[in-house]
Amino acid sequence: MAEAVMLLLIPMLLPHVYSMKCPGNNPPQIPHQWYQPGEILIGGILTLIGCVSQNFPFEQHSDQDYQCYPILLTKFYQHILALVFAIHEINENPSILPNVTLGFHIHDSTIDIKWIYRTTLDLLFTSPELIPNYKCGSQKKMIGVIGGHSSEITSNIATLLTLYKIPQLSFGSFESGLDGQTNMPSFYRMFPKEALQYEGIVQLLLHFRWKWVGLMTLDDKRGDHFLQTLEPMLSRNGICAAFTEKATRQIQWDDIGFMLKYLDSSNANFLDSKANAIIVDGGTGTFIWLATIIFMPTILMKLTEAEYVERTSAGKVWITTAQIDFAFNLFQKAFDIGIFHGALSFSIHSKDILGFQKFLQLLKPSRAKGDGFIKDFWEQVFECVLPGSANPGKSGETCSEEESLETVPAPFFDMSMTDHSYSIYNAVYAIAHALHILDSSRTHHRAMYNRDSLASLNVPPWKLHTLLQRIAFNNSAGDEVTFDEQQELKGGFDITNLITFPNNSYVRVKIGRLDPQVPLSKRVIIDEDRIKWNRHLPQVPPFSVCNDPCKPGYSRKKKEGEKFCCYHCDLCPEGKMSDKEDMDYCITCSEGHYPSQGQDQCLPKITNFLSFHEPLSIILAFFALFFSLIAALVLMSFIKHQDTPIVKANNRTLTYILLISLLLCFLCSLLFIGQPNEVTCLLRQMTFGIIFSVAVSSVLAKTVTVVAAFMASKPGNLFRKWVGKQLAHYIVLSCSIVQVGICAVWLGSSPPFPDMDIHSLSREIIVQCNEGSVTMFYCTLGYIGLLAIICFIVAFLARKLPDSFNEAKFITFSMLVFCSVWLSFVPTYLSTKGKYMVAVEIFSILASSAGLLGCIFLPKCYVIILQPELNRREQLIRKNH
Ligand SMILES: *[C@@H]1O[C@H](CO)[C@@H](O)[C@H](O)[C@H]1NC(C)=O
Ligand SMILES: *[C@@H]1O[C@H](CO)[C@@H](O)[C@H](O)[C@H]1NC(C)=O
Ligand SMILES: *[C@@H]1O[C@H](CO)[C@@H](O)[C@H](O)[C@H]1NC(C)=O
Repeated sequence: MAEAVMLLLIPMLLPHVYSMKCPGNNPPQIPHQWYQPGEILIGGILTLIGCVSQNFPFEQHSDQDYQCYPILLTKFYQHILALVFAIHEINENPSILPNVTLGFHIHDSTIDIKWIYRTTLDLLFTSPELIPNYKCGSQKKMIGVIGGHSSEITSNIATLLTLYKIPQLSFGSFESGLDGQTNMPSFYRMFPKEALQYEGIVQLLLHFRWKWVGLMTLDDKRGDHFLQTLEPMLSRNGICAAFTEKATRQIQWDDIGFMLKYLDSSNANFLDSKANAIIVDGGTGTFIWLATIIFMPTILMKLTEAEYVERTSAGKVWITTAQIDFAFNLFQKAFDIGIFHGALSFSIHSKDILGFQKFLQLLKPSRAKGDGFIKDFWEQVFECVLPGSANPGKSGETCSEEESLETVPAPFFDMSMTDHSYSIYNAVYAIAHALHILDSSRTHHRAMYNRDSLASLNVPPWKLHTLLQRIAFNNSAGDEVTFDEQQELKGGFDITNLITFPNNSYVRVKIGRLDPQVPLSKRVIIDEDRIKWNRHLPQVPPFSVCNDPCKPGYSRKKKEGEKFCCYHCDLCPEGKMSDKEDMDYCITCSEGHYPSQGQDQCLPKITNFLSFHEPLSIILAFFALFFSLIAALVLMSFIKHQDTPIVKANNRTLTYILLISLLLCFLCSLLFIGQPNEVTCLLRQMTFGIIFSVAVSSVLAKTVTVVAAFMASKPGNLFRKWVGKQLAHYIVLSCSIVQVGICAVWLGSSPPFPDMDIHSLSREIIVQCNEGSVTMFYCTLGYIGLLAIICFIVAFLARKLPDSFNEAKFITFSMLVFCSVWLSFVPTYLSTKGKYMVAVEIFSILASSAGLLGCIFLPKCYVIILQPELNRREQLIRKNH
């Protein structure tokens, strides 16, 4: 039913189709065809005519002279030749379809889409009289059709061919995902999955960190689809579209008025954009439009040399999709392909086919039989007139036919096979291989029934589908051709780099590939060293960003009203950092790390403790040892002169206890130097506390002894000397035991332990002894202080007591020193941190001990060592009285 309606409609459409721009009622002499008979035909609907001109080349004719004149995209003639070349190869190859001669019928799809129905029907049925569904007297056996080039043409052909279930192999662009594949079971794409290409574009942009890119496409359904698919993918990957431009295809090249108006309305502002990477999609039409927008004003508007240079030296990286070929039409002969130097293109994977160049070299208009294309091609590409040309009004030299295609610049004709030609070549082979399999399976039947060859049988084209779906063969270049479940070519893309020459020619150099077999992140493989970049790019590889990336140490800040790819850079706040470019936030360093000067990295905090290597600790240790040596020397000289009165006075045992404890005081300060560990932490404050209380309590006991001695010397007093002696020992013992008790409570409740303080200093970790209980620490200290104050008071009161060896004066003085040292210790200790805190404590220990040692023992030593004659009891007594 649908078929019938369709076929009724088509002839009704055709009159409209014919009414093209050219005046007159007759259809223009446009259809270009090439027919070569064979037992089985392969059809081709290819594009060669780019547009139709009425007055080419820009010569004003009178109305009667108007001619419809096809303007070719001469580069696309290679597509036709690739199809012909493949069929010749197959016919000459005895191993494939040995008893069948393949023929072909190639039609130009022309510029008007509506022509496509007529053209397709022409391929299938008899011409010149078209009667759909009737093959009057025709031997045509169309087995498959190759084409077309643009998505619009392709889908229109498919609409018809699907009715007849004739395999259609398209090689160019198409609207993937727009018209569901399920509607078109007879449709095959000589093109890898398009989603792969989108992924490839994103990966390529990510590879070069291009975040601000331009998008160009055609103003049609495919263009919309392209933008709808790509833009979300880009933003997911942090890339923004700086602009989107849509090319119109309706350019009337020969109408200067139209061109001027058009160019005026569509200026190439995008050339000034900061986006250096511009993705061009859509089809060759987009490329032609783009070249027009850039160059046409330079020609039509007669720009000055400087303006021209400025306009044409826009350093951009053009990224083109596989649908695009770098082809110019004949209006564009003056254009400079050099502006596209360095373009990166996705292209269908292709290789050189042996013999194709030779085939091109042998091409001559006079030799081409049945080729309805070559005349126009030859005349337009070489700008000459062939003898017998039907186009009046054309002037120029006569073609010699000795012209060589090798001298034609690549935008007009390429001697090496383009990727689209390669697809056509493979498509022909795919059909031939499918036929060959069908033929081989029939050989068996033929032997049995002695039937005719495949050719004379009525091979229904639909029989090829099951074979085509599973086709797999290696072409002459060694590439495997096979389709996936969606009837799309299995394979990947090449990435090529456009290298242009001063003669306006170019080559496309393969610099990478897009391989569907490998994981997404590695899919784009690029040999960056081989890329030649556009000469006008300021840096290589170029940047394409809205603003320079935020350096480490800065974070991004949104710019109001602009896309997220444009932002300010804010310095990280104090104490935070960012170590990568373009961070959204500054972060705090992990525990034990701190931000470096530039806030761009975290440095591990260095440990802070009083190590043995530091000058400060060396000096402190030196003094500790020096003073202990002195204390030891004093002790030795006292022991040596133990029987002298000055030593014996005021309780010799106490003197020894005091000296030993002072010696230990000096030594215990050494415990504070070095990295704290569990043992030193436990020992530090405990030894300090106990030894000091022993020392201070011995001084106290000495003072009490002085008082006791005075009292004992008074007649009638109960105090006896030995009582004073005992009392002194009790004092030392009890006072020390109290301190030992405090320390025991401290140890029992919360003993000191080694600790790290990460937070107090911004750049260092303080390795310290945590006191465990600060209260206990100050209790210990306070107890010593209390003893010292009592001692001071008693000594102060007793300083005037008459006694031969009254030490009270010295003790008062020493306690004054002692107390002032420890009173000043507390605020200093509290206001320092880390190792200096420890140093303050060591200093206080040393200073107070040295004070005691100096004040109490220096005068005695003076007498003992330097004035031994004074050290006699009589002497002292005499002196006293
Ligand atoms: C081709 O045809 C010839 C005779 O017409 C026949 O002898 C030969 O077997 C055929 N070859 C194949 C492969 O069918
Ligand atoms: C253009 O120049 C390049 C390098 O100079 C050369 O390889 C190429 O063959 C030339 N092309 C044409 C069409 O003259
Ligand atoms: C194509 O060639 C490759 C090796 O070059 C081989 O592994 C593969 O099987 C061949 N494919 C077909 C269909 O012959």
